[in-house]
Amino acid sequence: MVVGSFSQDELDEIYAFAIDLGRKAGDLLMSRVEQRMDGGEGNAQNFEEKDNSVDIVTQTDEDVEVFISTALKNKYPSHKFLGEETYAKGQSRDYLIDEQPTWCIDPLDGTVNYTHLFPMFCISIGFIVQHKPVIGVIYAPFQDQLFSSCVGRGAWLNEKRRLPLIQKPSIPPMPPNAPSQCVFSCEWGKDRRDIPDGNMHRKIESFVNMAAETSGRGGKGGMVHGMRSLGSATLDLAYTAMGSFDIWWEGGCWEWDVAAGIAILLEAGGLVTTANPPANVDSDPIEDVRLGSRLYLAIRPAGPSATETGRQSQERTVREVWRRVRNLEYSRPGA
Ligand code: IPD
Ligand code: CA
Repeated sequence: MVVGSFSQDELDEIYAFAIDLGRKAGDLLMSRVEQRMDGGEGNAQNFEEKDNSVDIVTQTDEDVEVFISTALKNKYPSHKFLGEETYAKGQSRDYLIDEQPTWCIDPLDGTVNYTHLFPMFCISIGFIVQHKPVIGVIYAPFQDQLFSSCVGRGAWLNEKRRLPLIQKPSIPPMPPNAPSQCVFSCEWGKDRRDIPDGNMHRKIESFVNMAAETSGRGGKGGMVHGMRSLGSATLDLAYTAMGSFDIWWEGGCWEWDVAAGIAILLEAGGLVTTANPPANVDSDPIEDVRLGSRLYLAIRPAGPSATETGRQSQERTVREVWRRVRNLEYSRPGA
C-alpha cells in the first residue's frame, strides 16, 4: 500500500523501528517500576499536578518522552513530533497536526495507574500521514503485551497473534440487540467539575443509561453485559481491537491517547467515529473520527451474520449507543 509519499517498504521499515522503540521505552518504564518495588530511592512515586489534582505527571513520563523523541529525531529528522509532555509545556491547546508526517506519542498512558502500580499503563506511539494514523505501537510492560499495526499488514498482539483474537471460523458479528450483550468501556476522565449538566454529569447519565435494564430509563436502558474502565484510553482501544471490549465511548482525552490505538483498531477491522450523537441518530452519516476532536466512539471488529455485513452490525451499534448517550463539550481550535 502507498500512503502519501510513503511506499509499503518505507512504511514497513518505519513500523519495525517503532516496534523496537516501543519495547525499549517499555523497558525503561518497567525499570522505574522495579526500582520502586525494590525500595530504591524510597518507594513513593512523586508526581506533579498539571490542570488539576488528577492530571498528573511523573519524572518517568518526562524521561520516557525524551528517550522516544531523541530516538525519533535522530532517525527521522524530517518528521514532526508531538508528545504529551512537550505539548503540555507549550501555551497552545490547539490541534497542531497538519499534512506533515507526524509522530504522535504518549510516553506513559495511564499515569494514575502507574503511580498506584495498577498494571494498566503503557507506551503509545502513533505515526500519522495526511491526518490518518497509519502505524500504531502500544506496549504495556507490566503485562508484556505489545499491540501493533501498520496499514496493509494487519494488527497484532505480541507480533504473532492476529487481532481480533477470535478469527475462526469467523469474526463474530455484533450482538443482534447491541448494546445488550456488549462489554462497554468508558472513562471518568479528568474533567471533575461539579457543574449541573456539565461533562461529568452527562457522562454519568450516559453510563447509567448503558447499564440500566432495557425497560428502564424511558426506553434508553442498554443492559450491557459489563461496564469497564481501564484508566488508559490507549489500552481501552487496544482491548477493543482484541474484541475483548465491544464498545468504547469517551470524551476528553487527546490525540496522543488515541493515535496508536486508532491505527491498531482500524487495521483490525474496527470502526471509530465521534462520541456525540448527531441531530438525527437514525440517518445522519457515521463519519470517520477526527483525531483531535477529543470525542471518540469505537466499535470492535465484526464479521457478517446471516442478515448483515460486519460493517452494518457495527453501524447499527453506533446508532444504538448514540440513542443512549449525551453530547459532551470539548471543543477546541484547529480540530
Ligand atoms: C489519561 C488516560 C485516561 C483518560 C484521560 C487521559 P494519561 O491519559 O488515558 O484513561 O480518561 O483522558 O488523559 O494522563 O494517563 O496519559
Ligand atoms: Ca500520558
